[in-house]
Amino acid sequence: MLLKKWIVNALILCGALGFGATATAQQGLRSQRPDFLIGFAAANDFWTLQDAQKFSEVAAREFNLITPENQMKWAIIHPESDVYQFAAADAHLAFARKNQMKVHGHVLVWHSQIPAWMLEKNWARNELIDAMYSHIDRVMGHFKNGVYMWDVVNEAFNEDGSMRPSFWQKNLGDSHLPLAFTRARLADSRAKLLYNDYNIETLNRKSDAVYKMVQAFRKNGVPIDAIGMQMHITSGGIDMTSFQQNMKRLANLGLDIYITEMDVRIPKNAQEAGLPDQAQVYAQVLKACLAQPACKGLQTWGMSDKYSWVSGFYKGFGSALLFDENYQPKPAYFAVEHVLKSTQ
Ligand code: XIL
Repeated sequence: MLLKKWIVNALILCGALGFGATATAQQGLRSQRPDFLIGFAAANDFWTLQDAQKFSEVAAREFNLITPENQMKWAIIHPESDVYQFAAADAHLAFARKNQMKVHGHVLVWHSQIPAWMLEKNWARNELIDAMYSHIDRVMGHFKNGVYMWDVVNEAFNEDGSMRPSFWQKNLGDSHLPLAFTRARLADSRAKLLYNDYNIETLNRKSDAVYKMVQAFRKNGVPIDAIGMQMHITSGGIDMTSFQQNMKRLANLGLDIYITEMDVRIPKNAQEAGLPDQAQVYAQVLKACLAQPACKGLQTWGMSDKYSWVSGFYKGFGSALLFDENYQPKPAYFAVEHVLKSTQ
């Protein structure tokens, strides 16, 4: 009797201290829903970090999808016109293969992280199309069968739905989008082709523009498989009804949806207090995704708050991911885990 009481008390104490929860974290998110893609963006050369072992261990335990955070971008992978550097991305793929993860390729055509040799050159239209084609052929060809899905074009629109005046837009106009997607399908017919952007989660002028682009693609036979919603948001959350409606209209066009770069930033002066709100936002977004059959995966843009782009980019914000700087699961982690478990 006494022993039984002691065990019950011990269990309650463990629960209160979060021991039980920590033990559950050891199982990993990926094991909760093997049918769902749960991923993260991997830091540059993560195998060389001073805590590489811990990084790799948590990554392998938790995730079944990996995106190289930077090391497939044009400036890194194709730094000179006749030089391709595949080694770092290859190491990501080797890690993925070893740990049965899918790979998300990021990114082929983007306004940022373009190498100087591209920006400095005066391009004739056909010459630039050829350069884009050979980049797509070479990069997608190199990773054929190893990359499950590709961000073909990233961030082509402004917030008001007009085209961003990017390097690509200035040189090739709107046509750079269908040209890139058509070529990508030829380069790797099995890879899923994504258009990826931020602030397109809810109904707004930018997501309207993406929707219209896909409608035009459908009409003209331009291939596209999915929309990537980056989901860089705050602990204030997003309009969930609008998010659901937006996913629905994209699903009705026959598209899949991936949440590709989620982070939920908290103001630096309210880090502790913001954790419950952050947990709720992660849970709501994941729940809505799981309730929409077209939504096939969710990735966070990083893993531990120790290596996150957020504090560098959004001044005064941080702590946006599922694991703290010591790789300990945060309330948001347990909220995500709970949603995955309870929707099985
Ligand atoms: C960011 C990386 O996280 C940083 O390390 C890098 O310095 C700049 O790019 N949208 C994207 C990503 O599609 O490629 C960006 O990644 C974050 C915003």
